[in-house]
Amino acid sequence: MKILFIGDVVGSPGRDMVQEYLPKLKSKYQPTVTIINGENAASGKGINEKIYRNFLQWGANAVTLGNHAWDKKEIFDFIDHAEYMVRPANFPAGTPGKGLTFVKTNKGEVAVINLQGRTFMTPNDDPFRVIDELIEEAKQRTNIIFLDFHAEATSEKQAMGWYVDGRVSVNVGTHTHIQTADNRILPNGTAYISDVGMTGPYDGILGMEREAVMKRFLTNLPVRFEVPKKGRTQLSAILADVDESTGKAKDIKRILINDDHPFFG
Ligand SMILES: [Fe+2]
Repeated sequence: MKILFIGDVVGSPGRDMVQEYLPKLKSKYQPTVTIINGENAASGKGINEKIYRNFLQWGANAVTLGNHAWDKKEIFDFIDHAEYMVRPANFPAGTPGKGLTFVKTNKGEVAVINLQGRTFMTPNDDPFRVIDELIEEAKQRTNIIFLDFHAEATSEKQAMGWYVDGRVSVNVGTHTHIQTADNRILPNGTAYISDVGMTGPYDGILGMEREAVMKRFLTNLPVRFEVPKKGRTQLSAILADVDESTGKAKDIKRILINDDHPFFG
């Protein structure tokens, strides 16, 4: 089966790209399941119910989150009813929502897991110990396991990739918003990439207005980061091919759509 994953959707420019290109990507690649990281989808920080529902309506089967999961207060009103949304599973016990969900497809169930790193991030529970438990839980239902590891440090992301190699079908990294060129199949059959990259403004800095980010670097003054309303946009994704009988990955390719990498349907 083919698994399409769209990296960190940032604000309305990112949502517009998903709405425009998801149907085109689906008709070109025929994914069995589509997953979106939506933690930046509402004005660059957090997500709301309308956006979650739109993603499902536009063709996604599940939505993953990350460190901005709680930035929009209304998340607490719907996360416990959002069956196909996962927040990092290693958030402290008692946190709303869940870190593992299952998507039914005509080629079997897909377990979708979200985890967050700890290096240069809030020190949550140990993602390595938590993934062991989640793999065990998921394996009782399916061999096909997808993991979005939302983390800052490439070393931690690579460590996770090697740690889950052969136990998880696809392990993508998110959060750093720049697509890395290290997509590969690890020796025991896990499709891996350190970061899928971001979907949203193309000429900002990590999806935010570049003037504000530069001002911060130049002056150290407090600056408010906003998603640019206008300008060129991009979409970053991966397409993985997984043998549904074994859960092992056969292929992972990068997808990047922007003015420098136009989409050919
Ligand atoms: Fe993030």
